[in-house]
Amino acid sequence: MVSNLMTNIKFEKIDSVNNPNSIHGIYPYRGKISAIDVEQVIRQLPRKGILLDPFCGSGTIVYEAQKRDIKAIGVELNPLAVDIARAKIYLDSKANVIKEAEQIIKKAKAIKQFKKMPQQALRHFHFETAEEIMRVAKFFNEMSDYLKAVFYGSVALAARGCNGYKWTSSTVGKDINPKIKIDFYKKFIYKTKKHFHPVEHNGSEIFFHDARKLTEILPRNSIDYVFTSPPYFDCLNYTAYYAKIIYTIFGQDRLRIKNSLIQNYSAYIDDMKTVLDELNAVCKKGALIIFVVGDKKVHGKTINGGQFFKKISPFERCRIVEREYTGSSSQIFDKLNKTKRKEQIIIWAK
Ligand SMILES: C[S@@+](CC[C@H](N)C(=O)[O-])C[C@H]1O[C@@H](n2cnc3c(N)ncnc32)[C@H](O)[C@@H]1O
Repeated sequence: MVSNLMTNIKFEKIDSVNNPNSIHGIYPYRGKISAIDVEQVIRQLPRKGILLDPFCGSGTIVYEAQKRDIKAIGVELNPLAVDIARAKIYLDSKANVIKEAEQIIKKAKAIKQFKKMPQQALRHFHFETAEEIMRVAKFFNEMSDYLKAVFYGSVALAARGCNGYKWTSSTVGKDINPKIKIDFYKKFIYKTKKHFHPVEHNGSEIFFHDARKLTEILPRNSIDYVFTSPPYFDCLNYTAYYAKIIYTIFGQDRLRIKNSLIQNYSAYIDDMKTVLDELNAVCKKGALIIFVVGDKKVHGKTINGGQFFKKISPFERCRIVEREYTGSSSQIFDKLNKTKRKEQIIIWAK
């Protein structure tokens, strides 16, 4: 059964990778995997069994698994991403969520005292928008998981708006003047309604935990599938861009968060070996482990992700599927850097 799946599972190239109206458009998390692509894989997995994403980021894979009624476990060490992933799997009714959002806005408008936005974040906003953000931020801790992610997404949207919607994925944070006043309250309600696409909760869970220590939270021999897009050498900084603005607003120590993640090239191989050994321990015999990786330029050298992971994994049965990158940002990257990178999907069986 597993060997059948291992040889027959299809990874077709998909032309459209984004659906900004879906729940995944709630926040522009860096390195987010395409939900359309994920759905293609999930659709081919039997419904029985538990799926683990040890680097679940904003929860794309966990949500898509839950949508197909596969119980999923997400593990993630970036607190911002954990909040967003949780937002997608524990959802109330639309009426309740809208009521909650409206009540928060009402209270935010009425309060007399609230914190000032720290200067480092303030420089991205029109001062009136910044004030509205800080009024709403006062109620952050009492928000449902879903509204917390809406708050993050609305901050990102307001930052782009205050800068004339001129930021692209490579110019986030660029100072564009004059700053435009964006009605944060309206954006908050708008995003609350727009991204609400609930799926029935089936016991899926998100752990704020380190993928290098999976056996601390998961029983051995308990996982049927692993499906993930791992962090990649030191190419992507998951604490940069919009996340930087959000950590600043909440006074969080961004460097400490960054340093807790697998990111540093010198430690990368050892870290990943540890994760693969931990996966080996928590997976059942016959489990399928799928990593979506790709060619990466590290210190001027192109590394084939498929071959890299094949060498360091403890699993013997392995199949690698290579295809061209989908997604406009990858295509823009290749054009700018005159590269033609390939994406690899590596499938192991324990
Ligand atoms: C490529 S991203 C995954 C994106 C995800 N598929 C999504 O759609 O949002 C890799 C993730 O691994 C996380 N990460 C890095 N080191 C980690 C660790 N030691 N334990 C758990 N997660 C980690 C990063 O914070 C990042 O969110």
